Amino acid sequence: MTAPENKPAQTLAALGAAQPEQVVALFTEILARFDADSAVARDEGSWKHLRDTWLGRKSGVLTQITDNWLKPATSELKRVVGQELNKLRAHVEAQIEARKLAIEAGSDESALARERVDLSLPGVTRPVGSHHLIRQVFQQIEDIFVSIGFSVVEGPEIETPYYNFEALNIPEFHPVRDDMDTFYIDLPEGAPTPLLLRTHTSPMQIRTMEKRQPPVRVIVPGKVYRRDNPDATHSFAFHQVEGLAVDTDITFCDFTGTIEYFVKEFFGPGVKTRFRPSYFPFTEPSVEFDVTCVFCGGSGVSAGGGTCSKCKGAGWIELFGAGMVDPAVYGFVHYDPKKVSGFAFGIGIDRLAMLKYGIDDIQVFFQNDLRFLRQFP
Ligand code: PHE
Repeated sequence: MTAPENKPAQTLAALGAAQPEQVVALFTEILARFDADSAVARDEGSWKHLRDTWLGRKSGVLTQITDNWLKPATSELKRVVGQELNKLRAHVEAQIEARKLAIEAGSDESALARERVDLSLPGVTRPVGSHHLIRQVFQQIEDIFVSIGFSVVEGPEIETPYYNFEALNIPEFHPVRDDMDTFYIDLPEGAPTPLLLRTHTSPMQIRTMEKRQPPVRVIVPGKVYRRDNPDATHSFAFHQVEGLAVDTDITFCDFTGTIEYFVKEFFGPGVKTRFRPSYFPFTEPSVEFDVTCVFCGGSGVSAGGGTCSKCKGAGWIELFGAGMVDPAVYGFVHYDPKKVSGFAFGIGIDRLAMLKYGIDDIQVFFQNDLRFLRQFP
């Protein structure tokens, strides 16, 4: 970088410069040398070298000129040397600073180039979720009932004993409460009423009739809870759809016709339904609906020739409980039992889904195993 003949290392006398013009020429030469040096300083390393070569305190070119040209200069030359040195210094300092900024901006630019987002690249596709099978079955049931004039309502999962039991004609100590082992909520002492996790969606029959006057036609999808030990057919949380229709002239025929329509829409036209007498405190008469076994087609014989394991050879599978609304229930909601009549049903959704899709363990609904969920996109 420094010329073989290093002029700043020598005195003006040694360089034979006695006239101001000669001094100016020397400075012009040095300035040109600096410009050449500076032009090649394109990165941080070479810039530092440039700075040290020219501005270095001990042996930088400007220091050498000060020491070798200015200090020993004759009084005739001192002035011009001083002026030229100041010009040179101003130029060198400004130039070095400018190079620094240029190099920094350049590295910013290359960083930008490196980090630029390529919008033409294919994006990251996130897998789209799907509805849980239980949600899908809720939807199917809602669609069927909505198409025949029912509307969908929902209610609280935390209930009072009044709505879950009393107003449904299930007084305290009624034996039916034993079948619905109930989760009660721990409440502070002096709480106005005990609270429980609803054991069925039937409390919404009461809440709906309290709010609306007949005609009432609603279904209530939701979660319910019973203190059952988990096995292939039991879970402490499961799902029901309650149905309720009350009007001035609803007959048992409307009731069975509606249920039959629903079952055929849900399972297909090939299935048959039947009902057997049953008992619920809030319906009278009460029935249990059965459907022909969806696995053996109602024959009771499995494809392999043996007894169908799903219906145990009966050809029928128990579906859900239902009945005509017990007149005693109307008393709780101030309907006139002499003027209105209606029916109610409570469908266990998990069971229905298991039957329709051939699932043999209720627990898979709650395990969130993707291998199961992906089968029902
Ligand atoms: N709530 C009842 C149960 O969970 C089912 C039912 C609903 C029966 C409506 C009759 C009428 O077992």
